[in-house]
Amino acid sequence: MTFFELTNIHIILITFAVCLWAAYSLSYLWYGRHFPDGPFGWPLVGCLPSFVGGQPHRKLVDMGRRYGPVFSLRLGTQLVVVVNGYRAIRDALVKKGEFCNSRPHMPIMERTTRRNGIVNAVFGPSWKEQRTFTLHVLRNFGMGRSIVEDRVSEECLHLKKAIESFDGNSFDPTHVLTNGIANIISSIIFGGRFEYDDPFFRTLLRLCNKNFELAGSVAISNFFPVLQYIPFGPMREIVDNFEIYRKFLNGKIEEHRQSFDPDNVHDVVSAYLHEMNNRKEEQREPGHFNDDNLFAVVSDLFAAGTETTSTTLRWAVLYFALYPDVQKRVQAELDEVVGMGTPTLANRRQLPYTEATIHEIQRMSSIVPLCIPHAASENTEILGHYIPKDTVIMVNLWSALNDPDTWTNPEQFNPERFLDDKGQVEKPDELIPFSIGRRVCLGEQLAKTELFLIITQILHQFTITIAEEENQDMASLLKPVAGITLSPQPYKIQAVNRHAL
Ligand code: HEM
Repeated sequence: MTFFELTNIHIILITFAVCLWAAYSLSYLWYGRHFPDGPFGWPLVGCLPSFVGGQPHRKLVDMGRRYGPVFSLRLGTQLVVVVNGYRAIRDALVKKGEFCNSRPHMPIMERTTRRNGIVNAVFGPSWKEQRTFTLHVLRNFGMGRSIVEDRVSEECLHLKKAIESFDGNSFDPTHVLTNGIANIISSIIFGGRFEYDDPFFRTLLRLCNKNFELAGSVAISNFFPVLQYIPFGPMREIVDNFEIYRKFLNGKIEEHRQSFDPDNVHDVVSAYLHEMNNRKEEQREPGHFNDDNLFAVVSDLFAAGTETTSTTLRWAVLYFALYPDVQKRVQAELDEVVGMGTPTLANRRQLPYTEATIHEIQRMSSIVPLCIPHAASENTEILGHYIPKDTVIMVNLWSALNDPDTWTNPEQFNPERFLDDKGQVEKPDELIPFSIGRRVCLGEQLAKTELFLIITQILHQFTITIAEEENQDMASLLKPVAGITLSPQPYKIQAVNRHAL
């Protein structure tokens, strides 16, 4: 082969690569001029390099300044539409809710709950049936006002005892908060709780937490599906951890199956078995009630119900430790309204500053910044932009919770922004940490109850300070660790009993 021929081959290859890149980068033009515009990406990787090491939700807001509230970008092999700001999010999830509320194919989900259950199910009859049934059961066994209040308050007693056991010495509150929250959801799902020093449950919670953390790093396999087959690394670790979790849940389901009594339906698993049984006995269609969905519903509730609320509580404790004036004002309000009693849900209306503070903690921590990915189930449009069926829709909840047009100085922690002139709570529609529309968080009511009761009961009893030996400054402590959720850096506190003499 001569030098000249080699050069020709090079030229052909380079021309081919450039054409491929141009076709690939401009592929959104295929859908016509109403498809959202977006940044040019690199060959193969698209815009992925823009997100390395940063906080993707912030980067997407920066991009939105140039391309508008609805724009497209290529991530690896995937063309994604990003929706920034409350107006666009509402248009997509509420006004076009019928078409924008499915879930995309995600390798990590195929390898865990396999798109059964609720969280990762496609928008269709199975999702609808499982979600409606679960909401109904949660209302009976968990979210019904007095039942949940009793369950949360009972767990608060254990939680306060666990905090008290540190005797004013420093500790990282992650485990006690996570175990407390996991116990509440466990009691609703399986009807049981676990001691805070139970070694198996401790390990299980650590693995679940690890999986949420690792899920951020394997998100790349959503954009390069071939990466899911690498036999080592984070994907393997997630799958291995999930197998331990699967065994634990299957064990609980099996125990329920063995001891099933149709006259004693007291938790989600027994209610599900009861529904399956009834359908069989009455010779009705089983619908989508089957073992795979039972496992996935239980798994969804346990994982979604533990990680999110406990992470919010970790932020709450950190904010109270770093903002002692806010903490004192909440305690003063509690002392005035509750006295030496125990805070209950009935006190909520009389505690506007406390409620405003919880809203501000949820806004600032914005723990699920990019929601759970949505997908278009039909051709549709968002704010006049054409969105073809199966497009992945990335909903930037963080952008709505931090929009300077809604929130003055959004980076400042300021509970008073939620109080009107008369000191009453005023909650703008833009406060959407649980998302909105048909796929809005199924546990929203339960989570709000947990946050209110646990925060008020802890602050009523303890004063929290950052541990003396903690040497990170405030800015570093408040810098989130980004995974699927935004969680706080590990930190230590001291909790002193306010009523001890
Ligand atoms: C502070 C606590 C919580 C926050 C901030 C939160 C937030 C969210 C968000 C943003 C979504 C995605 C909604 C969407 O795709 O548009 C979601 C979905 C979901 N959450 Fe929560 N969540 C919390 C607590 C809980 C709890 C306690 C449970 C369990 C009872 C739960 C169960 C679920 C389920 C099952 C879904 C999937 C809904 C569906 O796809 O139809 N969450 N949550």
